[in-house]
Amino acid sequence: MTDPVFVDLSTAPPPEGSAPTHDMPVPPITFDGPAGYPDEVVEHLTAEALPIIGRYPHARSALLPLLHLVQSQDGRLTRAGIEFCAAQLDLTPAQVASVATFYSMYRRTPTGEYLVGVCTNTLCATLGGDEILRSVCDHLGIEPGDTTADRRITVEHVECNAACDFAPVVMVNWEFFDDQTPESTIELIEDLRAGVAVSPVRGTGPVRSFRETERDLAGPASPLVEPAPTPLADPAPSGARRRVEATSQPPSPEPEPRKPRSCPATGTSQNPGPWTTTGATTGIGRCLPH
Ligand code: FES
Repeated sequence: MTDPVFVDLSTAPPPEGSAPTHDMPVPPITFDGPAGYPDEVVEHLTAEALPIIGRYPHARSALLPLLHLVQSQDGRLTRAGIEFCAAQLDLTPAQVASVATFYSMYRRTPTGEYLVGVCTNTLCATLGGDEILRSVCDHLGIEPGDTTADRRITVEHVECNAACDFAPVVMVNWEFFDDQTPESTIELIEDLRAGVAVSPVRGTGPVRSFRETERDLAGPASPLVEPAPTPLADPAPSGARRRVEATSQPPSPEPEPRKPRSCPATGTSQNPGPWTTTGATTGIGRCLPH
């Protein structure tokens, strides 16, 4: 048996009076833009926000979808968006900002019509993610995080998308494009710039604009987004862009709504949906007071 190996993962605190270990200033976290929306924008955002908030037992639980809603308004989070969410949910702007800055899907810089995220985490980088990012940026003449002058494409590097078995992975407005190469990604981007409809293998249909996608993620009550057609299977070989065109196949039928059930103890009608036991949610649990 070999001796254990210990790796020092921490450093001891610096001796008192010693120079700081780094002199890199930490950039402040800020949101730009006007401090508030015009009245007509507040009016339509409020009309969309109220049914979203109504889905949750506590208003503040609607913060994540509301951040997507204001991001669909501005293409990023602005001061006006932060203030709007705070006012709707009875939170402070600081509380909203602290959540907004935790999740990488919320952006603080302007976003083009298509947000192209190239995964440069371990496996994707090993299989060419770094090369893809560099090639795409060179092709567009921008740096990661920048947007093209025509406001169509924003490129950024992203962390692992949990799709490592399809590495290297590129995301466009949160949709996956698998097994990418520099050439296939550049072709994808040029199609997007030219207005060609592109669909991921795993997704809900042709990629929509960033703002449309953000509105979908917010989940406003209306208008409902039409179900996307099912893409055809694509036998593209590994390394090629897996792209499928939209088809006219009918959407899948809606699942039947759950039927109310009777409480075995009282005989009263119960709300549809899973019953709740004290420890878990299950379809066959016991009835709780409601
Ligand atoms: S490392 Fe890229 S998806 Fe996991």
